[in-house]
Amino acid sequence: MIQGMEIRHLLLVVAVLLSLVLQGQGGITSSYVRSEWPAVDIPLDHKVFKVPKGYNAPQQVHITQGDYDGKAVIISWVTPDEPGSSTVHYGAVQGEYDFVAKGTYSNYTFYKYKSGYTHHCLVSGLEYNTKYYYKIESGESSREFWFVTPPHVHPDASYKFGIIGDLGQTFNSLSTLEHYMRSGAQAVLFLGDLSYADRYQYNDVGVRWDTWGRFVEPSTAYQPWLWSAGNHEVDYMPYMGEVTPFKNYLERYTTPYLASKSSNPLWYSVRRASAHIIVLSSYSPFVKYTPQWRWLDEEFKRVDREKTPWLIVLMHSPIYNSNEAHFKEGESMRAAFEEWFVEYRVDVVFAGHVHAYERSYRVSNVRYNVSSGDRFPVPDTSAPVYITVGDGGNQEGLAGRFMEPQPDYSAFREASYGHSTLDIKNRTHAIYHWNRNDDGKKVATDEFVLYNQYWGKNIRRRKLKKHYIKSVVVDWIAS
Ligand SMILES: [Fe+2]
Repeated sequence: MIQGMEIRHLLLVVAVLLSLVLQGQGGITSSYVRSEWPAVDIPLDHKVFKVPKGYNAPQQVHITQGDYDGKAVIISWVTPDEPGSSTVHYGAVQGEYDFVAKGTYSNYTFYKYKSGYTHHCLVSGLEYNTKYYYKIESGESSREFWFVTPPHVHPDASYKFGIIGDLGQTFNSLSTLEHYMRSGAQAVLFLGDLSYADRYQYNDVGVRWDTWGRFVEPSTAYQPWLWSAGNHEVDYMPYMGEVTPFKNYLERYTTPYLASKSSNPLWYSVRRASAHIIVLSSYSPFVKYTPQWRWLDEEFKRVDREKTPWLIVLMHSPIYNSNEAHFKEGESMRAAFEEWFVEYRVDVVFAGHVHAYERSYRVSNVRYNVSSGDRFPVPDTSAPVYITVGDGGNQEGLAGRFMEPQPDYSAFREASYGHSTLDIKNRTHAIYHWNRNDDGKKVATDEFVLYNQYWGKNIRRRKLKKHYIKSVVVDWIAS
């Protein structure tokens, strides 16, 4: 009898220890101190900002997905001196541009700065999985680039996304961009805060939007960057007479929002390969009954995990963040949307804003309702993983002060510059990797297998749990 009690006691201890392991208590705060360049912007005369040769040559070329399912791109560029042509010539063979698409252009002022002519051209009806070459302008000033279309939307389509946030235009930003371009990723999920031009005043704001466009062109001209807006895109500067939010950003960076029935380019969604990507705006109204709230309500219903197993949400201000910088700034969006993230079993939520890296366990705080007494995030296998990748390298520098002790929801955090990749293999598995800019040295980094919330590990985990409970009960009876 005593032996039986001891065994039961032992089993209880084992069960408690196992549950702690399964719940993943005890995160890691990396204390590694990294060398970094000063957080100052690259000088204007540096070669990364070089203006292309030729009169009125197109510059700041960037592409983004142009429709819901990846059969179109929007090609954008700026001509500095005069409107020029908004036409794109393209084809599947280099130098043989059998097809033509006609775009539109516009220009604007910001304080006394006069912008160049921003062109946006929708190129649609493309074949999947195809390399296209394209040419902008003609004669000596023409420029040629290429891009590759994604595979058709399919549950097992593999695809590698890059994730970059808060990039700016410092030498640290350049390091991030160069590292990213060697990653082999096929498209960027950008988490907001592009140029940090709003750190300047008067005409320099527009100038630094232009330099950023040229700075990122070696990547943005060749693969789509899916944009989301951060606080540095707001550009609300009443002392200069500029009070229209997102003016510079919306003139220059476009999104296929109409294709996902959104009424505003700041929130939208696309499907690409096996992923359904929802982009939210932290700096637009999102409480109940606002256009963004109503759109998201409908968009979640349109998600079909049989076609796109991977459900990814992008936003700028993180919901789970244990850094002193921007602590709790995502709380209002958590209150508005977390319940849906859990209900629709979102795989991962990427955010930026905090200039550091942090990953959460799968947790939720949906039982908190002001009076319930349930105030804390708890392990929740239906919840997304929340990942903050606000470490692109802008001029504001790193956010190095984390809240202590590390909260239970925080799995890994480190204040270094870098970017992430999400390498989707099939409907069940994706390899996630955070790449700090000085990877290559023998230091720990953050890499793990992300199991799909609809097709992946949880189904097996439930089975395992059942078997585990069964074996405990069998042992108990046997004792
Ligand atoms: Fe930000």
